[in-house]
Formats: sequence, structure tokens, C-alpha cells
Amino acid sequence: MEKIDVLFSEEMITKRVKELANEFYLKYHDEEVVFVCTLKGAVFFACDLLKNYRGDARLEFLRVSSYEGESSTGKINLKLPLKAENIHGKHVIIIEDIVDTGYTLEYITKYVNDMKPKSMITCTLLDKKARRVVDINPDYSGFVVDDLFVIGYGLDYDQKYRNLPYVGVVVKE
Ligand code: IMP
Repeated sequence: MEKIDVLFSEEMITKRVKELANEFYLKYHDEEVVFVCTLKGAVFFACDLLKNYRGDARLEFLRVSSYEGESSTGKINLKLPLKAENIHGKHVIIIEDIVDTGYTLEYITKYVNDMKPKSMITCTLLDKKARRVVDINPDYSGFVVDDLFVIGYGLDYDQKYRNLPYVGVVVKE
């Protein structure tokens, strides 16, 4: 395997996930929440958030794609839709892996909003603020990350590296 520089260690991620799960619990406490995990990248983040969430929670999955290799194609394709009855009238937290240009988050928030949730907030593990094209910001983020192509903890480069327990960058030699 290539050399990888660790940016956010397993310990840093675990600590931050617990903080976010507690913030969500303080916000919703006795009201049920639907965590909408965007596949595939957010899968570990969403599962860890759920495991640390003490209130009533459901988990739904959504899959969109726009990336090939290291670049966004800009065109969002819906690969796995949500069922409107699982969203309508519910408190929804959209869980993303990383917000880069913002096209994906913009698409997903419009898509979910059209299903008329009771409330909707967005949470991303990583916010690559410097690359934003669309005027959209996640409500919660794990970490702000520089303009680097990152991998691990669910994030891939052409489907590789998702299984790393930390977030890092591949060192190009
Ligand atoms: P956006 O639509 O440009 O904001 O891109 C969002 C999606 O692009 C994310 O959900 C990721 O799947 C992918 N992506 C963006 N930056 C990275 C990265 O640094 N590593 C891995 N995937 C990325």
C-alpha cells in the first residue's frame, strides 16, 4: 500500500463523533430522528454517530454519485432513492462524508426537502470550505479540511481506502 499521511486519527474521529452525537441528543432528546446516510462515503460516520446517539433513531440510506477519480463531474445522479414515507413529517439529519463544491449537498437537501420532513439539518464529517462553488454550508461538521484529496473512514479514491480507520492523504512520490 502507498504511504499515507494521517490527518484525522481514529482517536480524533471517535472524540468528535461523540461530541456531535451528544449535540444531536440535546437538540432532539425525546423526539425520534431519522439519520439519512449518503452512501457509500458516509457509512462509517453515520454508523458511529448512531451507535453514540442515546435517543430514538432510524437509519435510512441514499446514494448519489458525481465523482470519478479525483474530480467531480458536476452532474449528480440519484442511484438509490429514499422512500417519502420514511422522511415525511420526521426530523431528518442528512449525514455526508465530505462537502467539496457543494453540488451534492445542494441536490440532497432539495431532494429531502421535497419530501416535507418536520425538520432537516445537515452534518458532514469533513468540510472542504476552500473548494465551495455553491452557496451552501453544512449545519454541523466534524472537521474543516484543506483543499486536499482525502481518503479513509469511508472516503475512497476509485473505491479504494474506505476501510482505513483514519482520514489521510496519499503521499505521491
Ligand atoms: P461535491 O458535490 O463537490 O461537494 O462533492 C461531494 C462528494 O464528492 C462527496 O460526497 C465525496 O463522495 C466526493 N469527494 C469530494 N472530495 C473528496 C475527497 O477529498 N476524497 C474523497 N471523496 C471526495
